[in-house]
Amino acid sequence: MEAKKFVSGFSKMSKVDKINWLSDFYNDHGKLDIKMFEAFWHQDDSLQAVLENFSENTVSNFPMPFGIAPNFHINNKVYAIPMVIEESSVVAAASSAAKFWMDKGGFKCEVLGTVKVGQLHFKFTGDIEALKAQFEELKSDLIASVEAITTNMRKRGGGVKDIALIDFSSEEPDYYQLRVSFETCDSMGANFINSVLEQFGIELKARLAVLFPNDRVEIIMAILSNLTPNCLVRATVECPVTELDKISPAFSGAAFAEKFRMAVRIAEIDPYRATTHNKGIYNGVDAVVLATGNDFRAVEACGHAFAGLSGSYASLSHCSVEDGRFKFWLDLPIALGTVGGLTKLHPLANLALELLGRPSASELMEIIAAVGLAQNFAAVRSLVTTGIQKGHMKMHLKNILTQFDATVEEGQQVEQFFSDKVISHSAVRDYLSQLRTKVHQ
Ligand code: MEV
Repeated sequence: MEAKKFVSGFSKMSKVDKINWLSDFYNDHGKLDIKMFEAFWHQDDSLQAVLENFSENTVSNFPMPFGIAPNFHINNKVYAIPMVIEESSVVAAASSAAKFWMDKGGFKCEVLGTVKVGQLHFKFTGDIEALKAQFEELKSDLIASVEAITTNMRKRGGGVKDIALIDFSSEEPDYYQLRVSFETCDSMGANFINSVLEQFGIELKARLAVLFPNDRVEIIMAILSNLTPNCLVRATVECPVTELDKISPAFSGAAFAEKFRMAVRIAEIDPYRATTHNKGIYNGVDAVVLATGNDFRAVEACGHAFAGLSGSYASLSHCSVEDGRFKFWLDLPIALGTVGGLTKLHPLANLALELLGRPSASELMEIIAAVGLAQNFAAVRSLVTTGIQKGHMKMHLKNILTQFDATVEEGQQVEQFFSDKVISHSAVRDYLSQLRTKVHQ
């Protein structure tokens, strides 16, 4: 073991010292381009300090493209949507789907619920039936015990909405849970929920000690749940199938609608396809979640768990073709905040929310569901018509050119040459090398 490679006090070192330490650490393994870290520091020291404070042991920043998908017509408003994503063709696909639906009534979005969830997990060795009988009274005591913590949230219309006692003792001896429903208004509410739950733990232990003096209560843990199936938004697009006639010269609108419906149905039936189908939805969802300073890990965890709630992982979107009408919709469970957290602290998240007109959390749920549906529409439209690679590789071409250090002139020649051909990494490499050989002949 290379004991000399362990370090203590790393977090206390300055940024420069951390980088120098890294340089020594990798000395044996070859060159580490440490100047690259510095090249990505923000030129404004105060902004750099803001970014650094979001996390720990920071040595640099990791920039990602911040793009805009315009023409999103959602509930009779038009949005230019900020999207942060590194994958080529995602923003182009979202923009193209937005434009397609723009004059067909746009995206109709509706929030179906805003309930957030927290859990207090505990062990109790006493008579659970006696506890259940006294639970309503206990519930009032628990809610009263967090009055000070919930004052501001209650003023905004939120707070603790309900508490359920869940009996898991058949799965694990003496294990019970308080499952708590919350309304956290425009904030994501993680800190609020966790503070309330921890106080519930203290109160529950104290109350049960009085009610059941001969029994044992042990609080195992108190934490929010990222599964929020009732924090749900639905986005829908629909039109007569005749309005889909122009999508592909190979199909009538009716034939396209049927093929599209079948593609969505496959994702409802088969988890292998559902995973990729939903990944396409999250291409759009995550990009806006990230741009607006929300927690994309929480959003993804929730969506995938929701997609598997029936017992088999399935598509989050659905499609019907009935009486000559094509209807495509997405049910997205998503817990977000538009105040607190990074939303104001990160200058670009703040700007993204400004661009969206300072939406409430519910409006942001609707916007993000529309983007997820648009992204899904664009992907499935390509899959059932041209195939995904045509558009994707066209967008990816710039990355390939960068990788081969192509000049502007070379880039133009490559684009011209591949305008009617299938683009692949190796084909571009070979064509570039042909071009370069010609120049040097
Ligand atoms: C690629 O990032 C996303 C897709 O695979 C989604 C899909 O297959 O539906 C194109």
